[in-house]
Amino acid sequence: MPMNSKEIRKKFLKYFEEHGHKIVESSSLLPDDPSVLLTTAGMQQFKPYFVGKANPIEDFGSLNVASVQKCFRTSDIDEVGDETHLTFFEMLGNFSFGGYFKKEAILYAHEFITKVCGLQIDYVSVFEGDEHVPEDLESGKIWRSIDEKVNIKKCGRADNFWGPTGSEGPCGPTTEIYVKNASGNSIEIWNLVFNEYYQNSDKSLRKLETPGVDTGMGLERLAMVCQNKKNIFETDLFEPFINLFVENAKEINLNKNFNIEKNLTDTVKRMLVDHARGIIFLISDGILPSNKDAGYIIRRLIRRYVSRMYQVGSLFGESLLPMVEFYKNFYSDIDYVKIDSIFSDESSKFLKTLTVGLHELHKLDAIDAVIAFNLYQSYGLPYEVIKDFGGNKTSKLNREEFEEEFKKHQEKSRAGLEKKFGGHGLILDTGELKAGSEEELKKVTRLHTATHLMQQALRNVLGSEVNQAGSDITAERTRFDFTFSRKLTPEEIQKVEDEVNSIIEKDLPMQKTVLPKAEAEKTGALYFSKNKYPDIVNVYFAGKTIKDAYSKEFCGGPHVNNTGEIGKFKIIKEEAVSAGTRRIRATVSF
Ligand code: SER
Repeated sequence: MPMNSKEIRKKFLKYFEEHGHKIVESSSLLPDDPSVLLTTAGMQQFKPYFVGKANPIEDFGSLNVASVQKCFRTSDIDEVGDETHLTFFEMLGNFSFGGYFKKEAILYAHEFITKVCGLQIDYVSVFEGDEHVPEDLESGKIWRSIDEKVNIKKCGRADNFWGPTGSEGPCGPTTEIYVKNASGNSIEIWNLVFNEYYQNSDKSLRKLETPGVDTGMGLERLAMVCQNKKNIFETDLFEPFINLFVENAKEINLNKNFNIEKNLTDTVKRMLVDHARGIIFLISDGILPSNKDAGYIIRRLIRRYVSRMYQVGSLFGESLLPMVEFYKNFYSDIDYVKIDSIFSDESSKFLKTLTVGLHELHKLDAIDAVIAFNLYQSYGLPYEVIKDFGGNKTSKLNREEFEEEFKKHQEKSRAGLEKKFGGHGLILDTGELKAGSEEELKKVTRLHTATHLMQQALRNVLGSEVNQAGSDITAERTRFDFTFSRKLTPEEIQKVEDEVNSIIEKDLPMQKTVLPKAEAEKTGALYFSKNKYPDIVNVYFAGKTIKDAYSKEFCGGPHVNNTGEIGKFKIIKEEAVSAGTRRIRATVSF
């Protein structure tokens, strides 16, 4: 019996646990690293450990760790629908920060693939060297010593040198393992990166003090070869859900004119399952639909997804339920109620204009970038939907020209904002709080008060060791850093969350008093030691009087009038930033 994906996960983690690795949970899809939009690789959460900025022994009790990491790659978004591309995927990886290097990494990978998975390696590749980095002779030798007959290909920088994510970071030569799938195609399934270098932002390389190991293997691809399938969509990670889509479409087909066989093509089915996973995981990590950054990615996914579902005449939010149930086995924080509420909200807004937009689109003869952008502007039809539904009419339309129009428009509206707000693209930017519109300002304000309450709750639950170390609030989430020596337990997180929600429910007034600094300090109000405060400061407190206030802090605002305005508070993620400093991301919703 071939292994199902659940068994593969389990065996992977078990194998590495038995070989001295600490198992670490996936980090959020929204990374701490400001140079990248989303998490694209397992190594991202470990960047500080590779460069000696954090101590793995203190945080994990081990120099070696393994994880199954949620990843999202936007570069492949246009390719989704073919046999291989995905936006969301899960990456199995083992990592070492000075514990072991090439020899053990290759031995582990070889043993796992050939013994645990019972697969045959077709060939491996190693780095052939270039003018900056020498050939990786060692990896070649190690492979030979394990298997005399192994087929080794030497490749250049494009194939066998990895990194960095973002503008700078650890990087190094790689060795990759290829296994044949059921169509006889050789598939790269495991990438073993030897992080020997650090790439600076000017692209120059310096040697890292301690070389590290970063490996990544897509769960979907491994499932494909383990289950001897022709492509990833035939594995147990996708096929059951694709079948459900088809069954649902047949049953519910509200749009009686719709020809399921003709319209629910393989391409569409693959896009639907891919986007469903993306929607579930992005929302779960606190990303809300908006017009920029990660918010724009989820908006695009939802719009494409809804457009197709609309055409099929199927149900929307409910279509995500079976997948949510499946992934809940592995990610306990996935919350269907939250996903459904955000998804339904966005999709119903979109549906209102979709029908009109599609009607307009069908009236047009030919669609170029300017017309396409107008359709986007007026009806929210994303590029992909215009391309998908426009068929031949869009043969001259390409993404570059569409993006060009988009940029032109953004420049225009930025110019408008500058006029309104005297040179700032953002209407609020205190360094800590950032909002781009009135709507965002409201959200940021609620998150800001919630952050005050959370700091107090953290001190109540964990003790006064907790002190603010940083804070960054956008319309999507609050990100709060604080001093604390260890990981929080799930119970502690729950306690903090419950305490904040109980204060919200009490609907305490959020008030401000202006005091000389020395007086303000006497009230016991918290302040951020890194900040320089003026002689006269504002103290915001939640409560009827400053004396019996639940929370008091030196602060410039803005805040809500009453805590009840905040809505429901939820902690999305707790993790290490560096030794002794933790980070919490939290959201608020109604
Ligand atoms: N960082 C490498 C990758 O993403 C190996 O984990 O492929």
